[in-house]
Amino acid sequence: MKLVFATSNLNKLKEIQALVPDHIQLISLADIGCTEEIPENSPTIEGNAIEKANYVKKHYGYDCFADDTGLEVEALNGEPGVYSARYAGKEKDANANMDKLLNKLENINNRSAQFKTVIALVLNGKVETFTGICSGIITHEKKGEKGFGYDPIFRPKEHKETFAQLSLIEKNKISHRGRAIQQLISYLK
Ligand code: IMP
Repeated sequence: MKLVFATSNLNKLKEIQALVPDHIQLISLADIGCTEEIPENSPTIEGNAIEKANYVKKHYGYDCFADDTGLEVEALNGEPGVYSARYAGKEKDANANMDKLLNKLENINNRSAQFKTVIALVLNGKVETFTGICSGIITHEKKGEKGFGYDPIFRPKEHKETFAQLSLIEKNKISHRGRAIQQLISYLK
């Protein structure tokens, strides 16, 4: 089965390719000639995922799935949430985003946070969504070199290390995206 995965993020493509069974062949946006930035104007993570998947179907005619992720920090009422990528500005600089978050939490004891991924699948004229959550805490400093985004400052509750200290295989087993993808895969089977 061929499915478009509506992302231009190579990290995510790598992560998800490692998870999908062999009979599902993922096609990238580049493969279908989609090089423009897909609009993400919704105020919610779920809304953005649906908007992206619908865009590919409408403009390119392919069934596809799209994901959207946010980091929700309890003490900040869910911030940065849907704004996670551009928290410190439109440059989408991961280090600046982490610095901003660490500063905001400087004198705050409640470090609870969760990553939330919503995958929207447009298939045979229907839209389905799958949500994956990974709970943990925001550390006081950056640790680890792996991964991307907020990985160096997020410690999932299942581990003593940050996401950036875990291998991709370990991260995928418990990550928000891994959990959402597992639901997608079960649905496709
Ligand atoms: P996106 O919707 O998947 O592009 O994610 C939005 C933003 O959330 C990214 O730019 C990252 O800053 C952050 N993010 C998403 N997934 C992860 C992850 O697995 N680890 C760390 N940060 C992530």
